[in-house]
Parts: sequence; C-alpha cells; structure tokens
Amino acid sequence: MKMWSGRFRQPLDAEFERWQRSFDFDRRLLRYELEASRAHAKALKEAGVLSSDELITILQGLERIGKEATESAAFLEDNEAEDIHHFVEKKLAGFIGDAGYKLHSGRSRNEQIATDLRLYVRASIDQLQADLAEWLDAFVTRAEQAGDAAMPAYTHLQRAEPVLVAHWLLAYVEMFLRDADRLADCRKRLNVCPLGSGAVAGTTLPLDRRAIAASIGFTAPTANSIDATSDRDFALEFVNDLSLLALHLSRWAEEMILFSSQEYGFLQLPEAYSTGSSAMPQKKNADLIELTRGKAGRVLGHATSLLVTVKGLPLAYNKDLQETQEPLFQATETLLQLLPLVTGWMKSVEFQFDVMQKAAGSGFMNAWAAATYLVQQGVPFRLAHECVGKAVALSLDKGVELKDLPLAELRQLNPAFDEKFYSSLALDSVLAIHDVRGGTAPARVRQAVTEAKKKIEALREETHAHA
Ligand code: ARG
Repeated sequence: MKMWSGRFRQPLDAEFERWQRSFDFDRRLLRYELEASRAHAKALKEAGVLSSDELITILQGLERIGKEATESAAFLEDNEAEDIHHFVEKKLAGFIGDAGYKLHSGRSRNEQIATDLRLYVRASIDQLQADLAEWLDAFVTRAEQAGDAAMPAYTHLQRAEPVLVAHWLLAYVEMFLRDADRLADCRKRLNVCPLGSGAVAGTTLPLDRRAIAASIGFTAPTANSIDATSDRDFALEFVNDLSLLALHLSRWAEEMILFSSQEYGFLQLPEAYSTGSSAMPQKKNADLIELTRGKAGRVLGHATSLLVTVKGLPLAYNKDLQETQEPLFQATETLLQLLPLVTGWMKSVEFQFDVMQKAAGSGFMNAWAAATYLVQQGVPFRLAHECVGKAVALSLDKGVELKDLPLAELRQLNPAFDEKFYSSLALDSVLAIHDVRGGTAPARVRQAVTEAKKKIEALREETHAHA
C-alpha cells in the first residue's frame, strides 16, 4: 500500500513513479530508520497511542526487518518501495498486519529522513575518526623508525633546508589531526534530534521529545520544527570536512608520487599497492596514490553538489532535499574506503634513507645557516645574506659546495669568516640550529613525536567513548 494514495484519482505515470524513488540509495539508511522507529514507537506507547502489546509486536516486527536484511540481500529488493520509510512500513505491515500502520501516527517522513541522515553522518564520523587514528599512527610509527635521518625540505619545489624525515612526516600528522578535529566539531553540532518535528509544524501527538532524543543518543531535541525538517547543514558541513580531508590526502599522494619517481628516488613503491604496465615490462606504477589524488576531485564535486542543491531553497521540506543523499553517501563511502588503503600503503612503503640523507647534504641548503653564522659574528643579516649569496655564486662557478671554498676567498667577501664557519655548515649543525618548538632540531622532533602520540591516543579515546 502507498503512503499517500487517498486523494489521487489517477495512477502515477509509471516512468515518473520509478524515477522519483529514492529506495535504490536510501536503503543504506535501514539501520537508522529502524533505530529511529523504535524510539518513536516507544514514545507512542508513552503517549497512549499504542498498547503495550502493540508496542512489543511492533518492536519485534522492526527487529525481524533488521534481521532479514542482514541475512539476505534479496530482502532489500523491492520494486514498489518509494523510499526507506515506505519500505519499512510495508514490511512491518506484512509481518504484523494492520498494527504496523500505527507506527506512522504523529510522524512524517520529513522528520524521519532528517533524523536518519543525522544518525548516518554521526556513525560515519565515528568510523572515520577510528580510521584516522590508524592513519595517523602509521605516520608516527614511520617517524620513529626514521630516527635522525634527514632529507631536503622544499619551498617552491626547490631544495630549501634540510629537515628530519620524522619532522616531514609529522607535518602530515598535524594536517590530518585538524581533519579529525573538524569532524569532532561537526559531530557535536549535528547531535540533536529532529523526531517530533512532524512534517513542518511539530508532531500532532503529545510525544516526549527529550526521551526520544535521549534513547538514540542525541543530546537534545531540535529547537524548531521548521528548521529541523529542512536543515541539511550537518551534511553540507560534513562533506565539506570530507573534501578538506580528501584534499589533504591528495597533497600527500602528490608528494609520494613525486618522491617515488626515479628523479627523487626517496621511496620504493609497495608492490602490494602498485600495478604494472600492459606494454612496458619495467613499469611499477603508483596507482593507489594516483587514484587517491584523483578521488579528491570527486569529493570536492560532491561538496559542491550539496551546497548548490540547498542554495536558495525556501523553508521547509522540499523534495530537492532528496538530492542531498547521493553526494553525501558517495563522499562518505569514498573516504571510508580510502583511509584503510592509504594506511596500508603508508605502513609498507620503503623509504630510501640513504638517498634522502645524501640529498639533504647538498644543493646549498646550508646557506641560511651560513648567514646565521655571520650574524652571530656580528654581521647585520642583510649583509650576511648578500655575502653568502656571493659565496654560493662563487661555488656554483667552481662546481663545488660552500664548504669547499678556502677561508682566504671567504675572507675577501667578509673578514668576519673564520675556521668555525666550516663546522656550522655540517648537516648536524644546520639541523641543530632550528632549535625551537615546531622546528626540526632532533631533540625538538623527538619531543614532537611524543606529543603526536598523545594526540592520537586522545583521538582513540574519543572514538572509544562513542563506540
Ligand atoms: N525520500 C525522501 C527524501 O529523501 C523522504 C522524505 C519524503 N517527504 C515527502 N514529503 N515526500 O527526502
């Protein structure tokens, strides 16, 4: 039986009927629909609309729907269900008879879909947070394994200064911790319950909205029924958070792709996550990370779709809102699939520490340290900069590094140069002078590793608290 056929005298156009249905994609929401329906059924009983027996029968019927859906995929094949709400009502009435039609008393699909989607986003955030903790953990583990190995850091993709490999890895930890933080923030805001909002003006029965909200883990009922049934901010916010996460993954992927090229040679691609070429027998291609970079474009597209779908919509529920589901699901599923894969990649990639270390010691990346040496000799920085620049130019002409210039030649540039200059150029000295919080001096990086571990532990605790 349809949910609304009474006032219609003509049948729907068959093509339109099929086309407007959302069941193909909103069947994903079944467990949330059942969860919300249980809460509503209990409230109906408290309000005296259902007898105790009816409540028990309804709860058993709902449980059976959940069970059959997990046992057989065919159970979810339904060519008549308009959406997940209609599907559950049909099945319930099929299992328990007309009592099943009592469940919809005092509620509207408008509040149901708003609730189901909140529950879906909340559960997705919890899973993503757990996955992010593993992802972050892979970086910190690799940072610990890297010890005091160094590599070049780049600005403008030109060699800039040497840093510890661990310091570079921890940059990604900070980036992805911000993503986890944004998700936690989104979760806080979304965790209120639309049930009891009815179609637009509030339910028509005396339901205890606080009890309903609490029974499905929401902190409170939503405050305004018009807003509650038309609000999709939580989905927009969430997918925008996901697009930033995907964008970060694409930056990471891009760097890994570059570093795996023979031109850099900083890492060996893990065979388990690479593929070959059908034509060139020697090839090992970085498919996983290339696809990661590519997926970011689509997730950004989903975020844009959502924003544009809701833009300009008048209050309250409009069917356009059904169009917010697919971009939400697709963006969520993309990230849920990606995170475990990139974590596996990150755990198995092989860093070529010798190549990185060698690259860290050449290419004048000690030039700023050289100028700092002169500053410590009392030379004003701008003059020191100019002088070291000249020394670099001289070295380039001779095809040598700064350390190969004889003291006599250096002294012609500035009399402040002395023997100690040479030790200030050594890789260890260059790393050591960046001795500030957030800098790459080895002791600071060790401290940062410890702090990163604590942050990841806190993230894990947060996810356990929600489990
Ligand atoms: N499938 C619908 C959606 O996703 C559920 C709400 C339908 N409400 C309505 N008044 N037709 O938005």
